[in-house]
Amino acid sequence: MSTITFSPGSRTWLLSTPRSSYALRLDAGDAPCHLHWGAPLTMAQIEQLATRHVDVHPNSFGGRQVPEELAVDGGARYGVSGLQVRFADGTRALEWAYVDHEIAESADGVTLALRMSDRHYPLTVTLHYRVHHDSDVIERSVELSHAGAPGDGSGDGIDDGIDDGAIEVLRLDSAGWALPDREEYRVGHTIGDWAAETQLRREPVAFGETTFTSRRGITSHQANPWVAIDAGDADESHGQVWSAALAWSGSWRITVQRTPGNRVTLTGGFGHDGIGWRLNPGETLQTPAFAGLYTDGGFGAASRTWHDYVLSHVLPHPQEVRPVLYNSWEATGFDVDETGQRKLAAQAAAIGVELFVMDDGWFGARSSDHAGLGDWTPNSERFPQGLGPLVDEVHRLGMAFGLWVEPEMVNPDSDLYRAHPDWVLHFDNRQRTELRHQLVLNFARPDVAAWAHGWLDRLVAEYDIDFLKWDMNRTFSEAGWPERAADGQADRLWIDYVRNLYGIIDRLRADHPNLRIEGCSGGGGRVDLGMLSRVDQVWPSDNTDAFDRLTIQHGFTRLYPARVMSAWVTDSPNPHTGRAIPLRFRCHAAMAGVMAVGGSLTEWAEEDLQELKQHLARYKEIRDTVQLGALYALSGPRPTGVTAVQYTSTDESETVVLAWQPTGVLGREPGPARLMALDPQARYRDRESGREYEGALLTEYGLPLDLPSGDYASTLIVLDRIASEVQAAAAA
Ligand code: DGJ
Repeated sequence: MSTITFSPGSRTWLLSTPRSSYALRLDAGDAPCHLHWGAPLTMAQIEQLATRHVDVHPNSFGGRQVPEELAVDGGARYGVSGLQVRFADGTRALEWAYVDHEIAESADGVTLALRMSDRHYPLTVTLHYRVHHDSDVIERSVELSHAGAPGDGSGDGIDDGIDDGAIEVLRLDSAGWALPDREEYRVGHTIGDWAAETQLRREPVAFGETTFTSRRGITSHQANPWVAIDAGDADESHGQVWSAALAWSGSWRITVQRTPGNRVTLTGGFGHDGIGWRLNPGETLQTPAFAGLYTDGGFGAASRTWHDYVLSHVLPHPQEVRPVLYNSWEATGFDVDETGQRKLAAQAAAIGVELFVMDDGWFGARSSDHAGLGDWTPNSERFPQGLGPLVDEVHRLGMAFGLWVEPEMVNPDSDLYRAHPDWVLHFDNRQRTELRHQLVLNFARPDVAAWAHGWLDRLVAEYDIDFLKWDMNRTFSEAGWPERAADGQADRLWIDYVRNLYGIIDRLRADHPNLRIEGCSGGGGRVDLGMLSRVDQVWPSDNTDAFDRLTIQHGFTRLYPARVMSAWVTDSPNPHTGRAIPLRFRCHAAMAGVMAVGGSLTEWAEEDLQELKQHLARYKEIRDTVQLGALYALSGPRPTGVTAVQYTSTDESETVVLAWQPTGVLGREPGPARLMALDPQARYRDRESGREYEGALLTEYGLPLDLPSGDYASTLIVLDRIASEVQAAAAA
């Protein structure tokens, strides 16, 4: 149960979640100041704490010391601004004034809307907080409103290029977060690249400002909008962790600041540099959510709190277990036609695939990445009667049908581009940089968004498509919008693009309730909480090498649950890395998420197909636990020695352990894996071997993995919880 309470005397709000507290108050000058984020505290304790948070200026150089809920530009503030505006008369500083607040309860949780304004100018800033009863995650966002009525004459009338009364928003973050004083702060985050996403790093928080960011128009492969900060002593199961994640799929920025006085704060929101938004009288600008959580249970508890939150409050159909899919990309590349796809579909159905997805190459003149994007009609040579016969065949084989699309893109060599060269992001007097021979359609334009929605809607309806793989294969460049340059509004494309993208997906889903979507951006280029609220799963990486995947999947599951992590079993040697890995290891790596198949099945030996079939059948037995259970990273990815992950079902009856040893350690047999969070009183039985173990011993001394000592050893062990003799006696 979560609550939000207000103490009028001290003007303090206390947000209490099941295992944490968060508190803020207004200072004498009405600035909303941060008070506490951490262990559960009472209002009385919070009010005592407030006496320590007095903003003293020890000298004339330091500036404000007390962190604020949203660091505004103005006064003696010298950190990164989370809110920066320029009023029509050129004034940039903001001065807070309290207006009112509202606490609203619902069956699901409680919200707080703290309404503030500028002391002088017609600007309202509402700080939104939301807590759910079953989660320690606090969702925060900001709404900016121009309080002047259109044409009320509140502007200065100066011909300065800004409409009278309009407010220029230079920066608007979703929230500022502040941490208590600890000695050795570290920040956990992920770094990456194409085919090398979500590699976890943990580094000391630098004194100064550390910015994690994307200027690319998408979330990015290079960084993910998420941080986990600890006091330097946390591990997987112990220690204080403060984590925050942004629900936005365009450019973004999170800055962690550490002052010389050791005060750590972070601020984050959409856009990278200035967001360049003009707020006219009567208009509002709403930020995406920047969610945060605190736990004292270490990195593992932080990840599970995120997973539970995503499963309960983010995903569209959280409790729906994802099917095993087959994807044609690595098998056929662009060489797609009806005959070849039918063969693959037959093979896929024979080994137990439930959803057949035809990837790139089915439309227009798309025989390579040089042409065709934008012309979304089936290629008539490859599919003489359209997609209908293939879709029917896939359905006849008992599988659902999925199709790859990349709606935001156009090849200059396409009918669409020849007809609408002005539809792409561009500046009139600049070249149009092609990446993968393609340009970005300006989804901020209402006509482009309407066109995209129109053909997608027709396509899904015409072919009764069950699943779309929605891809996006390049970053923004020359992000201009000449038609809006004249009125100074071109930069709003950075935000409107993403909003229209969201709008199209939301509309498609509403109109086609059975449609399911996989988010993809050249692999994991657009994975974030914003995208996850409207897709069913995501493609974490184009790198399908099972060894590399262990690293990618570990970083991925620090925030995102296994339920959304699509993982294909592909050919060996791997087409990306050339690494040869046994099928068993490849299958076990894929089983750690939403297991799928992406190999050239028609070229596989029959015995390999049979082995894969058995692994898929086994996966189906355990996937409820993998996708919806609690994930424990027993030992993180490592080049030598054992990497292991445990999943325990919600009712704790089933525990799945996956372990991999890419390379053994010289002179050392692979040891047992110490399991987590089992009942020490219970007994557990290995479903395959029948061996039984005491819960207390599994957590203290571990589960024998019986891995052979060679390279690429792996195992899957399923344990059923059975009553111990002690428990059985007690029950009798
Ligand atoms: C990038 C995706 O990540 C791949 O899986 C594949 O769909 C290609 N695009 C197709 O062009």
